[in-house]
Amino acid sequence: MADTEFLSNLTRFFRNQAHFDALEHFVIPELMKIKQTMGNTTIKIWSAGCSTGEEPYSIAIFLSEILPPLWKFEIVASDISLKSLAVGKEGFYSDTQIVGIPDSYLKKYLDKVDGGYRVHADIMSKIRFDCHNLQTDSLQRNFDIVFCRNVIIYFDEAAQAAVIGRFWESMAAKSFLFIGNSETLFGMNTGFEFVKTEWATLYRKFT
Ligand SMILES: C[S@@+](CC[C@H](N)C(=O)[O-])C[C@H]1O[C@@H](n2cnc3c(N)ncnc32)[C@H](O)[C@@H]1O
Repeated sequence: MADTEFLSNLTRFFRNQAHFDALEHFVIPELMKIKQTMGNTTIKIWSAGCSTGEEPYSIAIFLSEILPPLWKFEIVASDISLKSLAVGKEGFYSDTQIVGIPDSYLKKYLDKVDGGYRVHADIMSKIRFDCHNLQTDSLQRNFDIVFCRNVIIYFDEAAQAAVIGRFWESMAAKSFLFIGNSETLFGMNTGFEFVKTEWATLYRKFT
């Protein structure tokens, strides 16, 4: 994957806390209302452009904390870089990399090992790491939440629109999309509705 080496894989645990606040106070309550009526208690999430795993692990830890008993979640974490995915699959992070994880979560969901920390197996088991180029259809469907943060910023306008169109196809009716703070769907012809919550802005697929 030498041709992907130039791409930024910069990431960190609990990046953009406001997104996690919106997840807790808006997205998850909305999804629970919607899915309960269908008798479906599993929330499907895609962390697209997950880099070395900090994003999907943050989501997994956070949902483990906030979801009521009987609710389950599963996360697909994809990236084009095999090197980054290998780090994610390993679940080991150095002392400097774990900055951003609140102490209480660190104690509860990671083990201190030589030179750093290892994510607990039950958190790792919630995530499936997958090599995927967002310029092609993942063929996966029915995601309730897609996180694609700080990824489309590297694409030109046409490629951004194509990727967002493919997310639409991969997402369930009544689902939610988080993009990065410096990214926008403004000016793009998409079906997504812009939602401004008390905590953060995001996009919603209604139908
Ligand atoms: C800056 S990181 C963002 C990581 C994480 N989403 C975050 O916000 O912390 C961007 C990631 O997008 C990945 N990426 C870039 N182009 C991609 C593509 N066409 N398909 C899949 N992943 C891609 C890179 O390999 C990199 O890991």
